[in-house]
Amino acid sequence: MKELQIKNLHVSVTTEEQGQNITKEILTGVNLTIKTGEIHAIMGPNGTGKSTLSQTIMGNSAYHITKGDILLNGNSILDMPVDERARQGLFLAMQYPAEIQGITNAEFLRTAINARRSSKNQMGVREFIQELDKNLKLLDMNESMTERYLNEGFSGGEKKRNEILQLLMIKPNFALLDEIDSGLDIDALQVVAKGVNSMRNQEFGALIITHYQRLLNYIVPDVVHIMMGGKIVKSGDAELAKKLENEGYAGLRDELGLDIDLVDEA
Ligand SMILES: Nc1ncnc2c1ncn2[C@@H]1O[C@H](COP(=O)(O)OP(=O)(O)O)[C@@H](O)[C@H]1O
Ligand SMILES: [Mg+2]
Repeated sequence: MKELQIKNLHVSVTTEEQGQNITKEILTGVNLTIKTGEIHAIMGPNGTGKSTLSQTIMGNSAYHITKGDILLNGNSILDMPVDERARQGLFLAMQYPAEIQGITNAEFLRTAINARRSSKNQMGVREFIQELDKNLKLLDMNESMTERYLNEGFSGGEKKRNEILQLLMIKPNFALLDEIDSGLDIDALQVVAKGVNSMRNQEFGALIITHYQRLLNYIVPDVVHIMMGGKIVKSGDAELAKKLENEGYAGLRDELGLDIDLVDEA
């Protein structure tokens, strides 16, 4: 069993506005523990810090940790650069995946897989192709996608599927899946869910970040956390997501007596 622990995490970003540096605290004390074998979901209104949390866990240096810690199997990872975190078994599927010119999808995947393996245990071409074929079928993806440059000219839906292909190929211990459902039609959503569900095992844990409950009908989480105002304000089982769907973020906020502005709650 492996464990990812977020302890009292406070995160700020500094931006420049009209020549002045403005520092804003975004995460205001996040506590969260995910073990392999578990799927957790974080739901929350726009602008509440969900993407900030996933970027900070992965080590994006734009996000400044002012307090708290992130532990992987009991050891702090705060000093590790992004690539080291990936080697240690963390994976981030981003809300807006980057395009990388000059590297094909297949090259990227094999490099990423082998970066996590010892030099004696590198994945050979044959095994790689077998794995790739199997996962392309599972995700109903065209083989030609893997020979294209990473995410270049991919549609929104193709990018999301491709992130799930990376997940299936790289087999991380912990996946942070940020809005993998955004912009997907129902068929693509089901394919993405099938991919994530196929990963469910005792060596794998996930944090699914979503604004809407819909995805959680297909990937049923063990634990649901609601994030508002930069911290987790309530945790529960899958029923909590359904309750939220009925009551809305504003309803839950009022029920909990929180003094938080919601940016664009319908
Ligand atoms: N790199 C950044 N620079 C400046 N502000 C940021 C940055 N990332 C996030 N923010 C701000 O932090 C808040 C939380 O953003 P985000 O984590 O993207 O929220 P969510 O994913 O929950 O919608 C927002 O007010 C956003 O504008
Ligand atoms: Mg976000």
